[in-house]
Amino acid sequence: METQDWDSIAGEFSDRVFQITDHDTDGVILSTAQRLGSTLKHAGDFGCGAGAVTRLLAGHFGKVTGLDQSAGLVREAEQATAADNVEYVHADLARPKPLGFRFDVSFCVNVLINRNHDVREKIARNVAAHTKRGGPAVFVVPSLESTLRTYQTVVDCQVRGGIGRSAAVRSANRQAGEEIESVVDGIVSVGDSPTKHFLSDELEAFLAEAGFDVQSMVRVQFPWNQEIDNPPRSLGPPTPWDWLAECRRR
Ligand SMILES: C[S@@+](CC[C@H](N)C(=O)[O-])C[C@H]1O[C@@H](n2cnc3c(N)ncnc32)[C@H](O)[C@@H]1O
Repeated sequence: METQDWDSIAGEFSDRVFQITDHDTDGVILSTAQRLGSTLKHAGDFGCGAGAVTRLLAGHFGKVTGLDQSAGLVREAEQATAADNVEYVHADLARPKPLGFRFDVSFCVNVLINRNHDVREKIARNVAAHTKRGGPAVFVVPSLESTLRTYQTVVDCQVRGGIGRSAAVRSANRQAGEEIESVVDGIVSVGDSPTKHFLSDELEAFLAEAGFDVQSMVRVQFPWNQEIDNPPRSLGPPTPWDWLAECRRR
């Protein structure tokens, strides 16, 4: 989405946008914040949207700054935040404008999703420029493996329901054809918006280019009903997931 598109959903962001912190089944983002947090540390939440991640961080850090390109979303985040150790800044992360300081710990959750590689690269480099050397940075992104695995799971469900495998695969291929704009570039339509999805190896290489060493890559799992309408009750884990890469700024 472009800036004006994010602006246009300000006021209804929480209803219209998938916020992974609301669906993080195993609390992976929360436990990461707890582990990296300290009342002596200043955390940055890059691309904070309506502030869901920022508010989660507020309980674990001395100070938190949420940054977003959308003035409307910054206002929405401010209105929804009661914590007094949080501030919000209106900033386009693809047009670096030095803040004049670096964060102890940086979070960037589902922001590297623009279909344009240059925009994603500028945002990641800007996060690097504002993270202390050696400091932790946490990136969460949509997983392309998860998307493909979901189509395969739909096929399995249909076969279990009595549909022939070839017909089920043809139907899933049709759906994938409508939803996946580029399988090579990982561009998948989410709610009509072309959205970048990463392979885990790709994310590691991308973040390395931007100045980060990836230390771990884990799944942030979320429920099936976020991907499949009326999923069968028998459908359990592993559920769909985003990738969470925990890095150190080089
Ligand atoms: C999917 S939302 C995620 C919001 C939040 N991190 C969360 O997980 O709830 C993506 C956010 O990234 C912001 N964003 C995208 N490109 C940006 C840019 N160039 N500079 C600043 N914010 C950006 C959008 O305005 C939007 O608020």
